[in-house]
Amino acid sequence: MSAKVLSAGLSGLAAELVEAESDIGSGDIGSFIIVGLPDASISEAKERVRSALRNSGLSLPKLKITINLAPADLRKQGPNYDLPIALSILLASGQLPSGCLRQVMCLGELSLDGQTRPVSGVLPAACLAKELGLRAIIVPAGNAAEAQIVDGLTVWPATDLKQIIGQLRGLSQPLTIKRLDNNSIEPAVVVDFSHVCGQETAKRALEIAAAGNHNLLMIGPPGSGKTMLAKAVPGILTGLAADEAIEVAKIYSIAGYLKGANQPPSIRPFRSPHHSASAASIIGGGSWPSPGEISLAHRGVLFLDELPEFSRAVLEGLRQPLEDGFATINRTIGQLIFPAQFLLIAAMNPCPCGFFGDNRQVCRCSSRQIANYRRKLSGPLLDRLDLQLTIQRVRPADFSYGVKLESSAEVRRRVESARQQQKQRLAGTKFLTNGDLTPLAIKQFCLIDRYGQALLRQAVDQLNLSARGYFRVLRLARTIADLANEPTIAKIHLAESLQYRFANY
Ligand SMILES: Nc1ncnc2c1ncn2[C@@H]1O[C@H](COP(=O)(O)OP(=O)(O)OP(=O)(O)O)[C@@H](O)[C@H]1O
Ligand SMILES: [Mg+2]
Repeated sequence: MSAKVLSAGLSGLAAELVEAESDIGSGDIGSFIIVGLPDASISEAKERVRSALRNSGLSLPKLKITINLAPADLRKQGPNYDLPIALSILLASGQLPSGCLRQVMCLGELSLDGQTRPVSGVLPAACLAKELGLRAIIVPAGNAAEAQIVDGLTVWPATDLKQIIGQLRGLSQPLTIKRLDNNSIEPAVVVDFSHVCGQETAKRALEIAAAGNHNLLMIGPPGSGKTMLAKAVPGILTGLAADEAIEVAKIYSIAGYLKGANQPPSIRPFRSPHHSASAASIIGGGSWPSPGEISLAHRGVLFLDELPEFSRAVLEGLRQPLEDGFATINRTIGQLIFPAQFLLIAAMNPCPCGFFGDNRQVCRCSSRQIANYRRKLSGPLLDRLDLQLTIQRVRPADFSYGVKLESSAEVRRRVESARQQQKQRLAGTKFLTNGDLTPLAIKQFCLIDRYGQALLRQAVDQLNLSARGYFRVLRLARTIADLANEPTIAKIHLAESLQYRFANY
């Protein structure tokens, strides 16, 4: 007898259909073979399934059992298939009524005593089940909330093998899970714009960065508020659209961070990995490639504090995703692609001691130390940072208590309006924001008035603007004009844009 149970495997962000097919026949009595899983996972899955069945009062048929997980060329993670393997054996050996798993997807890890354990990647699998119009998805109870994010899909939570078998035999009703409201992976907005005193230029630059999705670098002495400013960025970003939220939630699901959440996020992600983090954890990778911090920051903010302290592998590894909007991970089993469209906010001190150019404290670094420190950031990386600005320490006079400062919500309204204009202008193109515009697109979408053109010609001559620098100034000027609700770029927008060209450290 043979039987098939539907399951799912992951290829980057997308889930693909996997069939757990079991065949029970005569031959080597008691042999149990699994094909289609990587070596180590096979023996582990075999032992887990064998023990889980035994400890649930069920038995492996004393015949030759062959399991095939198809297609063979798809990346498969061992534990996800324990449950479909166990159920397909029970189906093939007549221990489950035939047809009870027709049009049902199933995934989950089993512990030796037959309990289910949560796995990663349930949300993309549930999206696939819905797309295929399947009847239901069986997932470990710990993943049930996550599967319920998909509207209109029936979720059967499984606490253990015995319980789900009882349900499939028609002896019990599907478990219902209590739906907790608003349990999401929402990052908390920790700093409101109104908490930041002074720093008007920096706040304006952050507003431009948020409005046009322009990467930004802040350079300033210790305590000048760089980290605080970066933490204020999520509060001024527009909310996530429904399709973006599902995309973000899928990445968190694959990384195994979604357990317990039953809503997609509504606030954009904010990730701030430490500078000692490895390239694999930031760009993505590992023995079972998992999305890195740059993908966890997809559609949100990646904050890299103390930028030159990150390893060379990380800094160089950022260049390609910053250009293409996705991370490519090469493996022996093939190439994996995870989306990685994020707003990069970076911060650094001007020198190793931090006080170079400070108006209050003397810098103790030699010119060689300073040069070495700055050399860690390569030209091609700096080229991808549209806004570069120097932050000075806030003056005591700026701590004028009693003065009401503009809140994040007020700034966000301007950002939303600027985004709306970009959306209209760029409709039908592959671009979402001004920050994404390529030189060719800049020529098409960044129209400049007569006086603006004259200023730009002057800047090219006098400031020795490179071709890259030229396009960067234009991209930024387009966002500045959008914030002012102006259809054409004028001299005033270009003049402001030119200010953010270099951090004059
Ligand atoms: N403009 C400001 N308004 C209000 N508080 C501020 C401001 N600037 C700094 N602070 C206060 O100073 C503290 C230190 O700032 P923060 O950690 O952001 O500095 P930093 O530039 O990141 O320093 P470092 O280089 O040491 O990391 C903040 O937690 C905040 O309380
Ligand atoms: Mg800091």
